[in-house]
Amino acid sequence: MEELAPKGLQGVYVDKTEIATTDSTGNLVYRGYKVVEIADKLSFEEVAYLVVYSRLPSKMENAEFRKFLADQSEIPDYVVRIIGEMKGMNIMDVLRTSVSALTASGRDEKALLSLAAKFPAIVNIAGNGAVKGKELPGSFSERFYYFMTGKNNAKYANLLEKILIMYMEHEFNASTFALRVTASTMADPVCAFTSALATLKGPLHGGANSEVLKFLLGLKNQDEVKKYVDETLEKKEKLMGFGHRVYKDKDPRAQYIKGLLIKHFSDREVVKNAVFMEEYVWEKKNLAANVDFYGALYMYLLGIEEKYYLPVFACSRVFGWVAHYIEQQKNNKLIRPLALYTGKTNQKL
Ligand code: CMC
Repeated sequence: MEELAPKGLQGVYVDKTEIATTDSTGNLVYRGYKVVEIADKLSFEEVAYLVVYSRLPSKMENAEFRKFLADQSEIPDYVVRIIGEMKGMNIMDVLRTSVSALTASGRDEKALLSLAAKFPAIVNIAGNGAVKGKELPGSFSERFYYFMTGKNNAKYANLLEKILIMYMEHEFNASTFALRVTASTMADPVCAFTSALATLKGPLHGGANSEVLKFLLGLKNQDEVKKYVDETLEKKEKLMGFGHRVYKDKDPRAQYIKGLLIKHFSDREVVKNAVFMEEYVWEKKNLAANVDFYGALYMYLLGIEEKYYLPVFACSRVFGWVAHYIEQQKNNKLIRPLALYTGKTNQKL
């Protein structure tokens, strides 16, 4: 009897990567650097450059990279019209459709980055009806924060930058794996990004961050938290924002964001309830809070509307996808596993 890989490919290494991993101490690492350390010291653009090019940029390269991302954010008129046709629809659906309508100018880093640079601009138009704040000077996260909230707030933009960095890359997560399967067929980058975007939307993956506020904000005190957790687990339903395929103990990104929540929003009851919930769920079911649990609350307290949570994730993760598309091309082999047939046999007409 042929041996089946574990369900969901759990615990299986399917290829090598030089982009990111979780080290033996449970830390997420990008190109050898601990994410929680670089998030304190580097800008979003520097981390994106690192993830894509495998080294930190010089001052000049960083300035050029920032300018490149700003310049390349221009969206063709026909795509603007598509976004207009989809007015009021879920921003992730608009993003996926609009990205699939773009054309890649090639398969190298620059061509892929040019597509990535358009993601926030698409989200901007989909969220606001027209590009807002494009001419604003400043960093990627300052412009991003402005178009989502209408506010010029350097402190909050800097806090947004931290979660953007946490979301950027995570080796063979589901959306990146989908991207690599598509890239392995030699499909172009637009096809690969479209696969990845479609996969990211699922609530077991990136879609979880939009689900968290639905319960968290309604829980007024610890008794209500306990009741919600008990009832959800009794019904055998999922607690969104908990559990992870890789982090069975602690998600370092969640712990980092939790630290920022405590530092900047400790007076808010909802933060205390969230910390209590994390402890209670661990005690009851040994499930760790993941990045989406604290990430959703963090974005809420930064004044960002829920409709942007998953797009924020996508606009950051796309830089990881760029790196993976390039890596897949460098040493490509079609990803095509086998399925063990368990269907009917010997059917007669
Ligand atoms: N709520 C309730 N029970 C859970 C949860 C949860 N969130 N997560 C896992 N479990 C249970 C699961 O049912 C299983 O129980 P039992 O042993 O009694 O059958 C046990 O915990 C082990 O879980 P698993 O199925 O082996 O976990 P997995 O690695 O297959 O799934 C996961 C990982 C993220 C899909 C899952 O934890 C989940 O559905 N979480 C909720 C959705 C979520 O927050 N997703 C965001 C993930 S982090 C950001 C990202 O990657 O996008």
